[in-house]
This record gives sequence, structure tokens and C-alpha cells, in this order.
Amino acid sequence: MSKFFASIKELPPDPLFGLKARYNNDTRSDKVDLGIGAYRDNNGKPWILPAVRAAEKQLVESEGYNHEYLGISGYGPFLEESAKVILGKESPAIQQKRVVSQQSLSGTGALHLAGAFLRDFYTPEKKGDTHAIYVSKPTWANHNQIFTSLGLDVKTYPYWNAETKSLDLDGFLSTIKSANSGSIFLLHACAHNPTGLDPSKEQWDTILKALSDKDHLLLFDSAYQGFASGDLENDAFAVRKAVADESIKTPIVICQSFAKNCGMYGERVGAIHVIPHEKDEGLNRAIQSQLNKLTRSEISNPPAYGAKIVATILTDSKLRQQWQDDLTTMSSRINEMRSKLRNRLTNDLKTPGNWDHIVSQSGMFSFTGLTPEMVSRLEKNHGVYLVSSGRASVAGLNEHNVDRVADAIDEVVRFCSKSKL
Ligand code: LMR
Repeated sequence: MSKFFASIKELPPDPLFGLKARYNNDTRSDKVDLGIGAYRDNNGKPWILPAVRAAEKQLVESEGYNHEYLGISGYGPFLEESAKVILGKESPAIQQKRVVSQQSLSGTGALHLAGAFLRDFYTPEKKGDTHAIYVSKPTWANHNQIFTSLGLDVKTYPYWNAETKSLDLDGFLSTIKSANSGSIFLLHACAHNPTGLDPSKEQWDTILKALSDKDHLLLFDSAYQGFASGDLENDAFAVRKAVADESIKTPIVICQSFAKNCGMYGERVGAIHVIPHEKDEGLNRAIQSQLNKLTRSEISNPPAYGAKIVATILTDSKLRQQWQDDLTTMSSRINEMRSKLRNRLTNDLKTPGNWDHIVSQSGMFSFTGLTPEMVSRLEKNHGVYLVSSGRASVAGLNEHNVDRVADAIDEVVRFCSKSKL
């Protein structure tokens, strides 16, 4: 090894993109990709949303269309409209001009900006000696490395009860209580990744009250708005409830991605919205200037194309309606596949175990409960690819492959249970 890179070690491939590469290299014609969370149509093909197609056409044909630099904060119309998408047009925070928005490289870029910003400037009143950020156990694999690489102390709160395949509310609440006041809590706004399990409205009430009692800072990751219920407004419930809650005095930070709900994965469209509790124009300007500095030093200025398309959709009532229809198309097809998979496993194949969670979970993913051994056999013997945690992207199922996938799951479940006896 070079003396100049004495401690360098080769890392294993990224769990999700490594899986994608193995899938791409697989020559079996009937392989099935249930890995990365990207919507596929009923033929297993990427889908350009009709709203996006129409907006692209409108945009490139518009007068003055160009590829000039954006300002450092991003594309103004996109920032204004994206805040309304997550907070609601009537949001008190928007009306009181408390929202500081900055364009980001999709959700990951927003989380990175949030982490760096909070690390440098968040000064809770009663703080331990660390910048602790609590993430759900389990959570999206990238959360951990985004915040660890920024030097934050990543801790976990219980979320998924594997036994009951439901929310571990008691564990969650007890960690909220025992954490140092003013800790950062990362919350999935909806369609929890990887479990597909969201707290009910009543559970959200309890969780938000507990967080507010300990003055924790709420950091929302909103990557799937529109995928949980098919409706943008419903899926923003938790965020809007928190923002409207007068008892929450700490700032609220929202990391928003349009990768999934606009099907614009590679265009990296997203934003961070920082919402201080108090109305203070000077503070807002200071926050924006620091976000600008971070942005300028890392990417100079954000990418324009995707943000302009999203802004075109959001500012045109017809396109906006089309987008809502597209979200319904995607979420209904996913729900149909959930039912088909569950019914085949339960009714036709009588696969050992209970598979009702496949239909009760929502969003793009199902946390199937399959073990790493079963997942590995699915990939090797059946060409069905999912993450070793047992997370399946239901969007990869379609009418042509769902029965085959169910048959494969049935085989691995029976095989692995037998080999344990
Ligand atoms: C996923 O969880 O599959 C997606 O968010 C893709 C990614 O970037 O990890």
C-alpha cells in the first residue's frame, strides 16, 4: 500500500447501488429488481410522469429558456412552491415568513446541508457534550454515513418491533425521554424507509408531544410525499402538525426530495427548509447566508433543470392536477401489487407465516420479514433481488412477475425453515 495512503482500505460496494450492479450483470431474462426505491411501470420499465413530460416540453419551448447559473440559494419559484407542497399554502410558518429555503442535491444533499448546518450553528440550551442525532432503527442506510461523515454522533431510537411487525412506540418514547434535551431527532415524514410503517395520527400526537417536552430538534426527511396515501396533503400530516404546534419551540428542519414523487431520480431536485420558532428577519438572513456559504463551497450553485421542471408543474394548475393523478397512478399500482403478493402467498401457496403486513405497510417498500439467508437464496436461485434487510421495493413488482416472485418467496421460506429444523 502507498505510504501516502497508509490507512486506506477498500470498502465493500454500497448496499443499494452494489445490489443494482449485481442485478444489471445478471443475465437471467426473468430476473426481478426489488432493490432500489425507484418506480417501475407494469412492464418493469422506468416511468416518466406525464406531468413531467408536459412540463419539460413547456419549459424548453418557453421564451428565455436557458442554461445559465442559478443564484446560490437556488431557483426562486421552485423554493417558494416546494415549501408550499410540504407545509401547505396556508401554513402559519409561510405566512409569518419564518421559512428559510435552500435548494439541494435532492434529499441526500438536503440531509447533508442540514447536518453541516446544525453541527456548526445549532446551540441547544441544555446540551450534552456531543451533537447527537437520533435515527430510527432501522433507517435508510445512507442516513448513518451522511451524519457520521459530518462528525455527528449518530444514535438510534427503537422503531420496528420485528416480533409484532408494528411500531415500537414504547421504545421510541422512552429514548425520546432519556436522550439529552435538545438532541436532534430524524423523523421520516411518511412512507418510512425501509419498513413502510408510519405512526398513526394518534401516535404522531404522542411522539410530537414527547419530543416537544424534551426540547428536541425535529429534522424531517420527506422523500416520499404522495407515496404513502397517494395524496400530497395527507402525507404531509406529521410535518404540518409539528409546524403548527405552538408548544414546539425548537427550530424544525425539513429535507425534501422530489426524486421519487416526480420520478426524477437522476436530476437531484430537492430543498432544505429551516423553520425557526421565532419570527426574526435578521435570523432568517443569517441562516440563508450560512446555507449559501455551504452550498457555494460544495457545489457553487444548485442544478437548474430539474428545479425548473418541478416549478413549472407547481405553478401551472393543469400540470399540478396531472401530477396528483400521476401520484395516484403510482401509489394505486403499488397497492395492487401488495394485495396480489399477499394473496398469492397466503391463499394460493399457504406460505408459512403471516403476510398481512405487506398490505398494511405503505409507500414504496415492504419490510418483508425475510431473513438475510432467504434474501440471498432469492437472489442466487431465483434472480429476485432485494436488500439483505428484507426490504422489497414493491414498485418492482408487476402483473407479469408477481406470481413468480411469490413462488420464489414460498420456496425460500420453506427451504430455510426446513434447514433450521
Ligand atoms: C432507496 O432507499 O432505495 C433510495 O432512497 C435510493 C437510494 O439512494 O438509496
